[in-house]
Amino acid sequence: MKTIIEPFRIKVVEPLRMTTREERERILRDADFNPFRIRSRDVIIDLLTDSGTGAMSSAQWAGIMQGDESYAGASSFYRFEEVMKDLTGFEHVLPTHQGRASERILFELVGGEGKVVPNNNHFDTTRANIEHSGAEAVDLVIDEGKQPTVHHPFKGNMDIDKLTSLIERVGADKIPLVMVTITDNSDGGQPVSLENLRAVREVCDEHGLPMFLDACRFAENAYFIKLRESDHAEKSVAAIAAEMFSLADGATFSAKKDGLANIGGWLAMNNEDWAVECRNRLILTEGFSTYGGLSGRDLAAIAIGLEEVVEEDYLRYRIASTEYVARHISEAGVPIMKPAGGHAVYIDARQMLPHIPPLQYPGQALAVELYKEGGIRGCEIGTAMFGLRPDGKEEPAHMDLVRLAIPRRMYTQAHMDFVVEVITEVHHNREKLRGMKFIRQPPALRHFTGRFDYVDP
Ligand SMILES: Cc1ncc(COP(=O)(O)O)c(C=O)c1O
Repeated sequence: MKTIIEPFRIKVVEPLRMTTREERERILRDADFNPFRIRSRDVIIDLLTDSGTGAMSSAQWAGIMQGDESYAGASSFYRFEEVMKDLTGFEHVLPTHQGRASERILFELVGGEGKVVPNNNHFDTTRANIEHSGAEAVDLVIDEGKQPTVHHPFKGNMDIDKLTSLIERVGADKIPLVMVTITDNSDGGQPVSLENLRAVREVCDEHGLPMFLDACRFAENAYFIKLRESDHAEKSVAAIAAEMFSLADGATFSAKKDGLANIGGWLAMNNEDWAVECRNRLILTEGFSTYGGLSGRDLAAIAIGLEEVVEEDYLRYRIASTEYVARHISEAGVPIMKPAGGHAVYIDARQMLPHIPPLQYPGQALAVELYKEGGIRGCEIGTAMFGLRPDGKEEPAHMDLVRLAIPRRMYTQAHMDFVVEVITEVHHNREKLRGMKFIRQPPALRHFTGRFDYVDP
């Protein structure tokens, strides 16, 4: 059959509140044209993020009822640890309340003034934690990864020449570890090939460096390897994931993505000395090492989520639904980043709205219009988010995109058809969209709380 169906049926439903265009216009005005300021009950399809927004399975909910809330030695922790060891092979597993806590603990230990941490592309919180420690975060993705329309099966790959030159330039003693983010969120959820991970491992071995994964979307990455790297087509996703993890010395993880949970994370590694140090920091700031800031029930849900996420029927549907939206809007002429990544579709607002200059935030204008047209909430990733420099001046960001991140197991094909229809309609009327301006903005992270209005006609 060529129709790929949702590999689940729905047992519990959460009603969506339908709104009229007039209501949405008022809601937008009240929210000062910032989708982050809109209440979720006023959103019809929420594509703001795929982080912690997915639906849990009946098995996960059953696991929650069995969560062991003992302070020390909870059975939920041992179940989680067993699943983790089977999946990743790492010797030491520390639960954390989310991905950024794992990053903070790791980089407080290995970062610091004068250190340099390479990655294909650091996610914002990883970069922020590295920089907070005093170290420098360097992005070394291949050039194709920076070009929205260039096709490449693994646009998240690290550029091995750039990695070698960096090590030669700064010296291996300044580099505590080399990180690779799978999939590469900051670059549109693009995957990294197993061949590239092996090449990074070889460079690390040559220079005696540890290699860590930011493994938030490891299952989506493994599935892309199965689809696109011919040597691995016959392997199971779990086997490919195990191979990816076996190349690394450790990993950080947000269970809000491929943990299929609403909260949680982990930090795992083989180095015992580092693990002892990290565990001490975990106990100091997060919680005892068998719960790490989570409740026992969260650990139970994550353990089950990690087993479910490598199921191929799930991944086939997951990747197909992202690709479905991307293909249909692209056929309607909407410019997008290609190929579609694992968890999101990125619309190139700068190309779609050439009459709106970057300093009038075409991405914000498009995000506002998608809400006005169909109650869809996406996220501007462009000049509103990145254009303000520390000296207070503004400059256009590298790109002006709108990210539509697809929550896991939450929406059906009919929802996605609706999303396609709304985007196509907005694209049809694109010449009527107007630029935007800030009317109030905080000095940092202005896209979250800033207030906007339309520029004067
Ligand atoms: C690649 C990547 N790393 C780290 C994080 C941080 O995880 P958390 O939001 O759980 O702190 C995220 C979250 O979006 C991510 O996408």
